[in-house]
Amino acid sequence: MSNTDNNQPDRKRGNIEKQFTKTAYDPIDTRHQGAIHVPVYQNSLFAFETYEAFSDAVKQPMHNHVYSRGNNPTVEYLENKLADLEAAEAAKCFASGMGAITAAIMSFVAQGDHIVCVDQAYGPTKEFLSVYLSRFGVETTFVDGRLLENIREAVKPNTKLIYLESPTTMFFELQNLRECAEYARSIGIHTMIDNTWATPIYQNPLAHGVDLVVHSITKYIAGHSDCVGGVVLGSRELVDRIGNNEYMLFGAIMTPQAAALISKGLRTLPLRMQRHETSGLTVAEHVRTLPFVHRVNHPGLPNHPQHELAASQMSGYSSLFSFITQVPIETMKAWADKLKYFKIGVSWGGFESLVTVNPAGKQQEDGSLVRLYIGLESPQDLMADIDQASESLSLL
Ligand SMILES: Cc1ncc(COP(=O)(O)O)c(C=O)c1O
Repeated sequence: MSNTDNNQPDRKRGNIEKQFTKTAYDPIDTRHQGAIHVPVYQNSLFAFETYEAFSDAVKQPMHNHVYSRGNNPTVEYLENKLADLEAAEAAKCFASGMGAITAAIMSFVAQGDHIVCVDQAYGPTKEFLSVYLSRFGVETTFVDGRLLENIREAVKPNTKLIYLESPTTMFFELQNLRECAEYARSIGIHTMIDNTWATPIYQNPLAHGVDLVVHSITKYIAGHSDCVGGVVLGSRELVDRIGNNEYMLFGAIMTPQAAALISKGLRTLPLRMQRHETSGLTVAEHVRTLPFVHRVNHPGLPNHPQHELAASQMSGYSSLFSFITQVPIETMKAWADKLKYFKIGVSWGGFESLVTVNPAGKQQEDGSLVRLYIGLESPQDLMADIDQASESLSLL
């Protein structure tokens, strides 16, 4: 097959090939009898032959193997792989995406500080900022991040952090990462981004100047709906600061079993993302043609209002998108009941396609917002499933 047979630009193919090398290639590890996959270090502590060696190691618990609340070899293996993929100096894995997000935010602020956050960020992140952190005297302003102007206007003298999520995972709105990062640097404040949707395969915000990246590993990175996890990635300085403080003190650590499972999932991430991208776009194009669908929110579709920006700062697209319809929410819930391949459930990133039905919210008064996650099944089966559910409710 020639390089252009599947319509992917060569640049992108080269990128995916590199990702395979980064995720899959390991030299034979003679410490583990040549085990082909990282072993699970099921240890809480690590012992030393001399007191001197122990005393040296405890000075840097994040970089030595002393106690698994600081550093466990199986978790460390995954951290190195993820840092490589995201082109980051360092990574620290957490028990969940929220563990990573809350620890990272806490590392930037103290009482009396202010944060600017995009208004469509993940719900619990917004709740943490608006409800929880306000108890400690940290205030947050939420803005429509599609325009840098809105962020600029919200910044105050005590602003310490601009929190981004691009694309957002309900309405799929983007922020211009380079512009936001440049602006924040010019006034001496930090930026951080939730990069879960795009994964490190399709977006590397550090290369655009963003200071810190977080992922919910639970989604595409783990990829099999079998683990919950999170990661922060950035400069050695920022990640070590979080490691020595919020990581060690709050203790929301990733277990070695989870790290081993996730490391296995990671090996197929580039392959899975290629399939997700193609299937997601195919199904999104199909959904766009349905008469009851008012608008499809997928940044990879050429008619998405920010498609140009999407193409300029991401090298591909994942497969979570939404559509707006004027059909009442109860009817769309009945539609979801009729679907056979799409399961009704939260989260995303695993094998199975998923559906949730929500109020239309900010883009329209009534009707509903349906979010579809396109898994690894045949896109033809998924489109046929959507058609049979739509026909059975006389929506076609
Ligand atoms: C965009 C996004 N960020 C963060 C999270 C939180 O991740 P976790 O559930 O692993 O804590 C989620 C979970 O759904 C999410 O969708």
